[in-house]
Amino acid sequence: MMFTGCNGAPGNSAVDTSGTVTADEAGDDSRDKALITVGFSQVGAESDWRNINTESMKESLSTENGFELIYDDGQQKQQNQITAIRTFIQKEVDYIVLAPVIEDGWTTALTEAADAGIPVILVDRMVSSKDKELFTCWVGSDFELEGKKVCEWLNEYCKLNRISGNDIRIVNIKGTEGASAELGRSRALRKAVNRYGWKLLDERSGEFTQAKGREVMSRFLRQYNDINVVYCENDNEAIGAIEAIEAAGKTVGCNIKNGEIMVLAFDGSSEQALEAVRSGRITCIGECNPLHGPRVSKIIEDLRNGVTPEKYEYVDEDIFSSYEKITEISVDDKVYPVEIMKQ
Ligand code: AHR
Repeated sequence: MMFTGCNGAPGNSAVDTSGTVTADEAGDDSRDKALITVGFSQVGAESDWRNINTESMKESLSTENGFELIYDDGQQKQQNQITAIRTFIQKEVDYIVLAPVIEDGWTTALTEAADAGIPVILVDRMVSSKDKELFTCWVGSDFELEGKKVCEWLNEYCKLNRISGNDIRIVNIKGTEGASAELGRSRALRKAVNRYGWKLLDERSGEFTQAKGREVMSRFLRQYNDINVVYCENDNEAIGAIEAIEAAGKTVGCNIKNGEIMVLAFDGSSEQALEAVRSGRITCIGECNPLHGPRVSKIIEDLRNGVTPEKYEYVDEDIFSSYEKITEISVDDKVYPVEIMKQ
């Protein structure tokens, strides 16, 4: 099905130099019909990854590139995102781009967009709606694969250092519960725990933020005195967990035989996190690529040219570590190189 979208009535949009307006500011009266209007409902600003993702979208969907972007920050609340979708429908945008905070609960809002004839492009996380016609396409990460890569890295480390599976005592600082990134990465961990006999001591959400990551790790350290691995579902949680570990007088690092606590993470977006990898304070990161702006603008270009985009577009992602002895890992019979990061 090819969507041509709807052009809004002329309007009064308060457009800044980048061409981005907020949902409240955007008017319908003097809209520049030469521009393609996109309503983007973003999850929030919980992490470095998210901020880079927002910038990537704003940069690609700029006035200079032929877009009027109506940006809405959902502040990690699904209800805010549903309200934004309804506002975009009222404003008769040409396209809706949705980065859904969690997977469940979108069918009504997406049906309203479909009824209005507005194509919806999902970005980053998925929705669980059974009717896959409610969205045009999705672009993002294979979160379970990211998790499997990090778990396989840990398994390789155990083999190389003769650490038996039941000596791994791990805690999981989960992301926002019900978000694709949390579901996929947690699923991968649970499968590895069963396969390798690791002991999963506890799991609790750190909501993908540094402050909550620190709070959750402090609590785990008070509860358990034998943690030797912490699986953090993003970089910000990892930085918070490191703060908590050091505040408790313990040391982060891969030498778990000598009492260090190994920090594993996801994203690899911020310089702070990459520096932590180079210095060995974060042992391994499964990359999550935030640069979806050019991908979304290409999808819109394709739709306008009558080209049907792939329904699901998974992006390629690396693994980062400074531990030189593991240069590749294998997941489901596929080999992935590990990028060794040095100071
Ligand atoms: O959905 C992607 C995840 O969301 C990133 O790992 C995390 O940093 C972000 O907040």
